[in-house]
Amino acid sequence: MKNSSSNNDNKQHREEEEGRSPAAAYVRLLFSAQQLHLFNLFSHLLLLAFGFIIGITLAFSVNHHQQLIILPSNNNNNPISSNNNSQSGIKRDGLRSFLGSGKEATIMHDMKDDELMWRASMVPKIREVPFRMTPKVAFMFLTRGPLYLGPLWERFFKGNQGLYSIYIHSHPSFNASSVPKTSVFFGRRIPSKGVRWGDLNMVDAERRLLANALLDLSNQRFVLLSETCIPLFNFSTVYRYLLNSSKTFVEAYDLAGPVGRGRYSPKMRPLIKPSQWRKGSQWFQIDRALALEVVSDRQYYPVFKKHCRYGGCIADEHYLPTLVSIKFWRRNANRTLTWVDWSKGGSHPSRYMRSDVTVPFLNRLRHATRCRYNGKSTNVCHLFARKFMPQSLDRLLRFAPRLMHF
Ligand SMILES: *[C@@H]1O[C@H](CO)[C@@H](O)[C@H](O)[C@H]1NC(C)=O
Ligand SMILES: *[C@@H]1O[C@H](CO)[C@@H](O)[C@H](O)[C@H]1NC(C)=O
Ligand SMILES: *[C@@H]1O[C@H](CO)[C@@H](O)[C@H](O)[C@H]1NC(C)=O
Ligand SMILES: *[C@@H]1O[C@H](CO)[C@@H](O)[C@H](O)[C@H]1NC(C)=O
Ligand SMILES: *[C@@H]1O[C@H](CO)[C@@H](O)[C@H](O)[C@H]1NC(C)=O
Repeated sequence: MKNSSSNNDNKQHREEEEGRSPAAAYVRLLFSAQQLHLFNLFSHLLLLAFGFIIGITLAFSVNHHQQLIILPSNNNNNPISSNNNSQSGIKRDGLRSFLGSGKEATIMHDMKDDELMWRASMVPKIREVPFRMTPKVAFMFLTRGPLYLGPLWERFFKGNQGLYSIYIHSHPSFNASSVPKTSVFFGRRIPSKGVRWGDLNMVDAERRLLANALLDLSNQRFVLLSETCIPLFNFSTVYRYLLNSSKTFVEAYDLAGPVGRGRYSPKMRPLIKPSQWRKGSQWFQIDRALALEVVSDRQYYPVFKKHCRYGGCIADEHYLPTLVSIKFWRRNANRTLTWVDWSKGGSHPSRYMRSDVTVPFLNRLRHATRCRYNGKSTNVCHLFARKFMPQSLDRLLRFAPRLMHF
């Protein structure tokens, strides 16, 4: 086409040449730019591939190394090893001291409450842990004095080391030195303060227990218990029920009248509306995510501290149910796993003495109600029960093997 035009008409050719020239130059430029770009792309790809190969090689050797260092086979029941550092000759500690899992690990500390809450509120941003971690259940005992049902709990925990941690908050005047060294409760008392029934310091004690338990990263479920609580099933059943649950268990309901909405103070407006006020048992079973929210609550807790201190406002029956119902209700079952009988009325539930403890009675607590668990209907609705008096211990110990398999 170019030939014929140059042969036939010079003017047209010139015109065409003039007309095409910038376009052609542009196309050429574009083409060479593309070539350059392609070349660049190619060399980049080559570099990338090269880098990739180096990366893979390195990663493999590093991984291999890490596995050798972090997860040796002779680690003495402890997932975090301490090996000798062959280069510096310094004994390797790894994450051991940070995780508080060394031999001298103690749960005692001298942090003040606000220091403790701050420390406990920390969350690792890297979610995969670089060591083997078995999830544990934190059993947190909020007691006045001795754990008189201790022998029953000892049997419950027996053989399940590594799957639980125990924390005890007892009155400072209680002398815990009578706990024998062989007991699962030995050395498990956290720095405690005085607690009065119905006072906000009950909530403080619960948060103190949660914060102490949060310091151990392997604690994934948190159970609050009193000295009158008993387990209704064996450890493996309780552990599976708690760890496999898609919900948290904080009892929360709306109750008209003086012991429900009557305890609400209009001063809590606008943060808490009367319709958001909830009541529930203080004995909860929650997961790590919710425990973290409770210790780091800087919004609702101060309002309770200001307006739910004295008089008829029983903070421990309202703080957590209200907080959870406002902010975390989606994952909450609104029920507790701790059985109790309020049917007799009054401000305290039924207490059980020796003669009350029978096989049919215990079976009723274990299986008589129906509820939902992970979307299915079940007759296992309570894992714990209260209130059992010291006199009930020998019968509980007698029936436990047959009934509860421990
Ligand atoms: C660490 O090194 C010391 C001597 O340097 C040795 O006695 C000890 O057994 C080593 N420990 C381990 C766990 O290898
Ligand atoms: C606690 O009791 C032990 C004896 O069981 C006694 O030696 C110790 O002094 C007591 N501690 C306090 C603080 O009373
Ligand atoms: C725990 O109890 C269940 C029945 O509730 C039983 O099937 C299971 O074998 C028991 N587990 C152990 C370790 O005893
Ligand atoms: C956990 O629950 C799921 C259903 O939600 C079930 O398929 C699974 O077997 C349970 N795991 C255990 C260990 O019970
Ligand atoms: C728990 O209560 C809240 C209201 O406080 C409600 O929205 C939620 O659906 C309830 N959850 C269950 C599982 O019943």
